[in-house]
Amino acid sequence: SRVEWDAEETAKSGYDHYMLKEIHEQPRALRKCLRGRVDELTGSVDVEALKGLDPESVQFVACGTSYHAALYGAQALREAGVHAQAFLASEYATSPAPVGDDTLVVGITQSGETADTLSALREAERRNVETLAMTNVVGSTAARECDRTLFIRAGPEIGVAATKTFSSQVVACNLLAAALTERHDAREIVEALRDLPSQVQTILDDSRAAQVADRFVDSSGYFFVGRGYHHAVALEGALKLKEISYKHAEGFPAGELKHGPLALVTDETPVFALVTGNGGKATKTVGNVKEVEARDAPVVAVTDGASDVGRYADAVLEIPETHPRVAPVLANVQLQLVAYYIAKQLGRSIDKPRNLAKSVTVE
Ligand code: AGP
Repeated sequence: SRVEWDAEETAKSGYDHYMLKEIHEQPRALRKCLRGRVDELTGSVDVEALKGLDPESVQFVACGTSYHAALYGAQALREAGVHAQAFLASEYATSPAPVGDDTLVVGITQSGETADTLSALREAERRNVETLAMTNVVGSTAARECDRTLFIRAGPEIGVAATKTFSSQVVACNLLAAALTERHDAREIVEALRDLPSQVQTILDDSRAAQVADRFVDSSGYFFVGRGYHHAVALEGALKLKEISYKHAEGFPAGELKHGPLALVTDETPVFALVTGNGGKATKTVGNVKEVEARDAPVVAVTDGASDVGRYADAVLEIPETHPRVAPVLANVQLQLVAYYIAKQLGRSIDKPRNLAKSVTVE
């Protein structure tokens, strides 16, 4: 008898889909992103591509998932006192923000080929502003055209839904923030980044995302809420779910719920609440959770257990405790798995969702 090898199956290494394989590749991808770039003793970073950078302000341009990483990156820089904003590249290209002599424009693009992001970066070049590409693809157009390139080293991503590249972009944003700023807790952040790959592995080993997916697969719509860094993850959780399951999903900053979206919340619409730590942000988000619970919406808390959000939740997806900077990556892994299992239950074309392409090369 003959053993038939299907090249695609082999490449998927036993996983049903590339997306699941790539979700599971995250610990390795994150280790590679950090390798040789951080000094754990001092908390400093040493990245050739970032040497000598000292911008007065930073403008991130990106699309889709990469834009969510940009929202995260801009917040990390602002927290350390650098003027930083995230722009959707398609908007920036037509309505560019004012720049100064010391502005740095950072294009975050996994593929390095997204037309909207390239044209935003070209707009920056036209205005003689320094540009940095944060990309996964060596030799990509963004890498070739920008003044500097920071490679995220996630390895090839085949699934149309970006998973491991988002996590690696977030870690790369931390490298950028550390290179541009000095923080009293720099060492804690580097230590948290060092522990991140094994914490992601813990989630991959123990996640209850498949059960949550089973329970809520028939819901009419899904909401995701979070504050601060978790806002970016709320948007990302919703994008991933809508992209591969074709179900209606929206992400909001938790505080915005009561300014409109709350009207959509019913017992048919689970609300995924991202809550870590037990500080002021967590307390406020727990307050928002109580508001949706009062409207009979099922609540799924993605939490490290530090707050009492679990008391108001119908289901809990646990993540390990870590520095607030790093928690969003962990929370997002749980949401990647929820999206994957809902789409799988629905029998969707997970790796190649309808109407979408891996890199969008038209504006
Ligand atoms: C993510 O799941 C999407 N496929 C999409 O939003 C993607 O992130 C966007 O098109 C940007 O791609 P890029 O990172 O290659 O520029």
